[in-house]
Amino acid sequence: MAAPRPQQLLLLLLVLVSLLAARRAEAWGKEGHIMTCKIAEKYLSEDAAAAVRELLPAAAGGELSTMCPWADEVRFRYHWASPLHYANTPGLCSFNSTRDCHDSNGVQGMCVIGAINNYTDQLLTYKDSTKSSYNLTESLMFLAHFVGDVHQPLHVAFEEDEGGNTINVHWYKAKANLHHVWDVSIVDTVMKNLYNKDLDTMVEALHRNMTNGWSDDISQWKNCTNTQTTCANDYAVESVGLACKYAYKDVEEDITLGDDYYFSRYPVVEKRLAQGGIRLALILNRIFDKKKVDTIPLYAQ
Ligand SMILES: *[C@@H]1O[C@H](CO)[C@@H](O)[C@H](O)[C@H]1NC(C)=O
Ligand SMILES: *[C@@H]1O[C@H](CO)[C@@H](O)[C@H](O)[C@H]1NC(C)=O
Ligand SMILES: *[C@@H]1O[C@H](CO)[C@@H](O)[C@H](O)[C@H]1NC(C)=O
Ligand SMILES: *[C@@H]1O[C@H](CO)[C@@H](O)[C@H](O)[C@H]1NC(C)=O
Ligand SMILES: *[C@@H]1O[C@H](CO)[C@@H](O)[C@H](O)[C@H]1NC(C)=O
Ligand SMILES: [Zn+2]
Repeated sequence: MAAPRPQQLLLLLLVLVSLLAARRAEAWGKEGHIMTCKIAEKYLSEDAAAAVRELLPAAAGGELSTMCPWADEVRFRYHWASPLHYANTPGLCSFNSTRDCHDSNGVQGMCVIGAINNYTDQLLTYKDSTKSSYNLTESLMFLAHFVGDVHQPLHVAFEEDEGGNTINVHWYKAKANLHHVWDVSIVDTVMKNLYNKDLDTMVEALHRNMTNGWSDDISQWKNCTNTQTTCANDYAVESVGLACKYAYKDVEEDITLGDDYYFSRYPVVEKRLAQGGIRLALILNRIFDKKKVDTIPLYAQ
């Protein structure tokens, strides 16, 4: 192959730079997704757990949580799925599906709420061979990921700053953007400060709190009177409310976020991870439980 000409190198460089710039963080970090799913696994009914095990790829070793970061890992291959990780509002602290659930071309339903309902519908065709033209393994892996995402407050946030992606900040001494702080930095700092950097220790603490600090709240977390579809819309409403009340509050470009921000925000992050887990279990139990039991046995395992 001939050596590339300078113009070609320049072009390559431009392409690379634009690829990097276009890259939008698309989720809780890996840890957040794994934790949400580990919590969900504790609340699955027997039928749901069996269906999940059957749908998971062999590489999952029977554990849903190992596949929960998958949707981020395939985001270059499945570029079409990029808008499904989040939803944007026009700078408002309220969420309205008709107004806000679409991709950048205006295609309705192409947002995290539409995706949760979409993959729920697909999974409802499980064991119904006449309707199942979908790859339900992928439907499950997408669903489990997006239920996590919709609970990250900055995944339902302002269009103008791309859910905090364009707001540059310092997290203590490190450069970051606000979106990344909520996807990753707060979770990492909590794990380091409180749980000896151990993910399972943190999951256990969150799980213990279900029967402790959060025991009075859980019936509300699970309250979903929408029988036609999921309550993803409600979770989005909560997220953008939290984005305004906690994530964006008192933040401006180039600010340094430290102890004040961390100590007042990390309980919100812990709660959202736990809520995501409970609600993922609720959705999966509704889909797969033959007895159609909507309630989650709260003290399971
Ligand atoms: C949601 O937005 C649509 C379209 O802008 C509007 O027609 C509708 O009234 C809004 N719904 C609520 C509850 O505000
Ligand atoms: C629904 O799922 C199918 C199959 O993965 C996908 O092609 C489509 O874009 C999805 N739509 C939404 C709104 O999630
Ligand atoms: C379903 O999707 C999984 C994950 O992408 C893939 O490994 C598997 O081969 C797919 N199954 C079929 C039948 O296409
Ligand atoms: C447990 O719940 C209480 C009450 O909401 C909360 O203040 C605390 O931060 C929670 N603990 C953990 C480990 O999440
Ligand atoms: C559940 O939610 C519905 C609708 O949001 C509300 O009317 C009802 O009071 C809630 N029930 C409980 C037990 O919180
Ligand atoms: Zn995501």
